[in-house]
Amino acid sequence: MTGRACARASANIALAKYWGKDDVLRNLPAVPSLSLTLADLYTVTRVSFDATLSEDVLEISGVAQTGRAKARASELLDRARALGSERRYARVETHNNFPTASGLASSASGFAALALAATRAAGLTLPLSDVSAMARQSSASAARSLFGGWVALDHGAESARRVAPPEALDVRMVVAVTHPGPKSVGSTEGMQHTATTSPYYAAWIAHAPELFRQVEVALTGGDLDALGEAAAQSALMMHACMWAARPPLIYFRPATLGVLQAIAELREQGVRAFPTMDAGPHVKVLVPAADADAVEARVRQVEGVTGSLQAAPGPDARLIDDDEADLSLTPGAP
Ligand code: DP6
Repeated sequence: MTGRACARASANIALAKYWGKDDVLRNLPAVPSLSLTLADLYTVTRVSFDATLSEDVLEISGVAQTGRAKARASELLDRARALGSERRYARVETHNNFPTASGLASSASGFAALALAATRAAGLTLPLSDVSAMARQSSASAARSLFGGWVALDHGAESARRVAPPEALDVRMVVAVTHPGPKSVGSTEGMQHTATTSPYYAAWIAHAPELFRQVEVALTGGDLDALGEAAAQSALMMHACMWAARPPLIYFRPATLGVLQAIAELREQGVRAFPTMDAGPHVKVLVPAADADAVEARVRQVEGVTGSLQAAPGPDARLIDDDEADLSLTPGAP
């Protein structure tokens, strides 16, 4: 038995945000979320079970990892081993095609690719929804990266579901990078801190489902304006809740507000551009595909913006063959 498989999964950006957990042990979110999977930002992961290993090995872009990153990968591998009756340790080689310095979350695409490659390498052929449930236990946003297009993780659900295919709306996500370097507080820790200390957490939990519903209804009705307005409110309501924590959790940098101001000005000129921010300072802007270049050019002019990129709606996660993985696993390869 070879015990080896490779997978590729795309990153996703939530439009109706997940922030807070009902069940920390099972990693079940306290609110429903809905995201867009992005074609141009993805992770490729190869898992090789190997009888000569005395522990799991995790390499990101060729660099061996230790500590929490490695432990989280091992926990997922344990679940795949248990399901597939695999006893060997594994070597995990992973590479993101987007620069880590862009500050974009790699845990969603990373755990989605790892769950797909690990279950296949353990001899299992599972429906994507089962792989999604496995990825969710590592990182709830990863559950959504198994599916392409527009994807929901309902409140209480074990796995994500596709709401609409990638082409449901002809849009792009423009990313304005506002600060180099890694984020200060990770999402898992940040949401626990918010839940325990922010008096606005209860309000967030009460209102998030309604914003999720508005995003989903707008999406199925093809209404980008209604979707974008609900999405922008979801992001700002989530951040307001973090700001009210003690001590406050503030991911924004001056350039974050600069980009929000530039988008507000574009909106006054009639451009349909809708911002969203995650557990970091960068701004992602949902725009009609035809306006993406103009919006990207505008946000690049904002003081403090250090980079930008555009991404189109992307496909399902999929298994890939070794040759394709070899190319993508080469550090620096596209
Ligand atoms: C702000 O999925 O990273 O990006 O389940 O603890 O791993 P864990 O959290 P994670 O949180 C993502 C938070 C977010 C919003 C979102 O993606 O919905």
